[in-house]
Amino acid sequence: MFSFLGGNAGTWRVTSMTTIVGEPLPAVSHISIVAESFTGSDDLARHAIWILRGITSNERYVTRAEKEQLVAVQQDLGRKESTSAAVIPIRKSLSWWALTQDERRDILAGQSRHVRIGLQYLPAIARRLHHCRDLSEKEPFDFVTLFDYASDDEKAFNQLLQELRTSPEWEYVDREVDIRLALS
Ligand code: HEM
Repeated sequence: MFSFLGGNAGTWRVTSMTTIVGEPLPAVSHISIVAESFTGSDDLARHAIWILRGITSNERYVTRAEKEQLVAVQQDLGRKESTSAAVIPIRKSLSWWALTQDERRDILAGQSRHVRIGLQYLPAIARRLHHCRDLSEKEPFDFVTLFDYASDDEKAFNQLLQELRTSPEWEYVDREVDIRLALS
């Protein structure tokens, strides 16, 4: 379980917050990412303007071959050169969730080539996917995605987003906020 605490102080300084689609999140100047679940009584949480929570989980769409390709090249978050990061919370529409697993896999991998496109940007970009919908359908987002990279790789990261956001999968994204971070 990871918590993303937005507020006026924290490990990461917010360099930009852009609402791509749907309702914005209140503006914050800093974000802390912690491997815990906070309650309202925790000191850190009391100073937060908002908290997003998500859990890492098993993969649902990758094939064995894709998994092996990912494992061969992907790097962990927190490399010393990774002084830039992005937190991008995403919600998908009810029509996405009404699809069957094989229909979703066809859109994500077959039609949109999400994994194939993403692989081209590894190992420069490190990532972690957090599932919020597994906690409750009432969470404000279905996923919190986290990426970190060297500041020189921000252009490549923007190119990656451009490719994914114009794919059929993104027609199902109905809330997305793109938050860029630098180590404070
Ligand atoms: C850095 C390169 C990337 C790679 C290698 C990558 C890879 C993957 C893989 C393998 C999955 C499927 C996990 C599963 O089987 O359950 C996935 C899911 C996902 N990715 Fe990416 N990805 C990348 C970049 C991105 C970016 C830039 C975004 C957008 C902000 C993004 C958003 C998501 C979301 C929201 C899911 C969950 C989709 C769902 O379950 O409906 N990914 N990604």
